[in-house]
Order: sequence, then structure tokens, then C-alpha cells
Amino acid sequence: MDKTVIIGCGFLGSKIFTNLKNNNKKVIGTNFQNTSNEFKKLDITNFDLVNSFLNKEKPDLVINCAANTDIDYLEKNEKFANMVNGIGVENIAKTCKEISSKLIHISTDSVFDGTQGLYKEEDDVKPINVYGKSKLLGEKLLQENLDDFIIIRTNLFGYHHQGKFLFNWILKNLKENKEFTGFEDIIFNPLEISFLSDLILKFGNMEYSGIVHLGSDEIINKYDFGCEVSDIFGFNKKLIKKDLLSIQV
Ligand SMILES: NC(=O)c1ccc[n+]([C@@H]2O[C@H](COP(=O)([O-])OP(=O)(O)OC[C@H]3O[C@@H](n4cnc5c(N)ncnc54)[C@H](OP(=O)(O)O)[C@@H]3O)[C@@H](O)[C@H]2O)c1
Repeated sequence: MDKTVIIGCGFLGSKIFTNLKNNNKKVIGTNFQNTSNEFKKLDITNFDLVNSFLNKEKPDLVINCAANTDIDYLEKNEKFANMVNGIGVENIAKTCKEISSKLIHISTDSVFDGTQGLYKEEDDVKPINVYGKSKLLGEKLLQENLDDFIIIRTNLFGYHHQGKFLFNWILKNLKENKEFTGFEDIIFNPLEISFLSDLILKFGNMEYSGIVHLGSDEIINKYDFGCEVSDIFGFNKKLIKKDLLSIQV
């Protein structure tokens, strides 16, 4: 790819951005609130802004990592969730069609309800929260507006510099010697963020269009995940209390 635009250089987007930069590739990144000299400011909910930005940059590949991932906030703000995670994606897809750019869009395993597990791309979706529903809306609007796309449904972990997400939360509790609960009946198969970033870029060079599930072949429950983190960093895993979410709800 000659030129890539990464929309939403947050946790994952900034990793992909750095990956491309380190390989001397032409890449432009955007953010929304956390603006810096490195990233341009773009609000994906505004079609005119998206359209003029992408028309100016004319990338071969757009990777959309922009989303609102604040599950609790979105639960109470469905309209906002649909605007960012739904309409925002539609705005990008419509413009990609206009300028003939390929779009890789990052979605989530939260489009499923989790009761079955090991989901295949053709399995029926059934999101259970507003975040998952809004991400699914984004997938749908994208597919209605663009042919040359890859939707990547995934889950990930890694160290976040601002302390967000599960991995940081586990580390913080362990460091502070605080007890916390790890649910044994919540299983997932996330990919390490650098590994996922490499994989996503490989898809940029593929002649493929459609939905792809990217996950680890190692399926793990949240209690065991916490214990592994504890072992690797040499903390006391007795701080992690085993529990079942199903008997709490
Ligand atoms: N992290 C996970 O565990 C996980 C798991 C599964 C799937 N995913 C998916 O992976 C993708 C990347 O997630 P992430 O963890 O990197 O999230 P993140 O760190 O919260 O980054 C989200 C990015 O979107 C930008 N953004 C938010 N609202 C925007 C708007 N209205 N217009 C333009 N940009 C906007 C943010 O900009 P500012 O920071 O400047 O506001 C930030 O750059 C998302 O699609 C998410 O659904 C993440």
C-alpha cells in the first residue's frame, strides 16, 4: 500500500500507526480529542469533515480504529453510541467508495452474545449491550455502502499507556496488593496488540473482501488470564479470587 490513513489512533490505532512508521511507510493518523502534532483531528460523525479529509489525503487504504468503547457510558447513551460506532463508520465507507480506497474496519467479538463460543464468520450475531449493537450497526452500514472492505472482529490485550482496559486493571491491582475477582465462567481468546497490529496490516495487502474473525487459538477464562499475568510479572496470584459471574447476576 502506498499511503494509509488510520482513523482513531487510540490504543490499537496508534500501535498500527507506529508499526507502519517504523517500516518507513507513508501513513497519516487521526484522533478526536487526544490531539497532538502527530495526529490530525477528525470527527467521524461529521460526513463533510470525513469526506474532505479523505479526499485531500487520497489513501489507498483506510484502517478505521475509531470508536467509542466506553461500555457503561454507551449503555445510557444509545443515540450517541449509534452516531459514533454506526453513522461514523457509514461516513467513512461512503467516502472510501467515492475515492476508491480499501477500508479495513475494526469490529469486536461483542457482536455475539457469547453463549456458543468459537464463533465462525457466518454465525448469527446477537449483541447483548448497546456497545455491541452499535458496532453491529457500523458493520451493517459499511456493507451497504462499500464493496472493497474487510471487517475484522477481534478482541485484544496489551499495556495501555493511559491505564485503560483489562490488562492494566489486573496489573494495577496486583502492584497495589489489592484483592480482585477473576471470573471462571467468562472466557475469551484475545490477541496481543502488537501481534494483532501485524496481522491487520497483512490484510491490507490481500485481495479479500468480507468479514474476518481474528482471535488467539488459546481460549482462556478471566481468572486464568489474571493468574498468567501475575505469574509473568512475578506478583502474588492469591490476590485473585475465583468466582462465577453466572451466580452473581
Ligand atoms: N480495546 C479492546 O479491548 C477492544 C476489543 C475488541 C474490539 N476493539 C475495537 O478495536 C477498535 C479500537 O479500539 P481501541 O481499544 O484502540 O479504542 P480506544 O483506545 O478507545 O481508541 C478509540 C479511538 O477512536 C477515536 N474516536 C472516538 N470518537 C471519535 C469520533 N467521534 N471521531 C473520530 N475518532 C473518534 C479516539 O480518539 P480520541 O482518543 O482522540 O478521543 C481514539 O483515537 C475499536 O473499533 C474497538 O471497538 C477493541
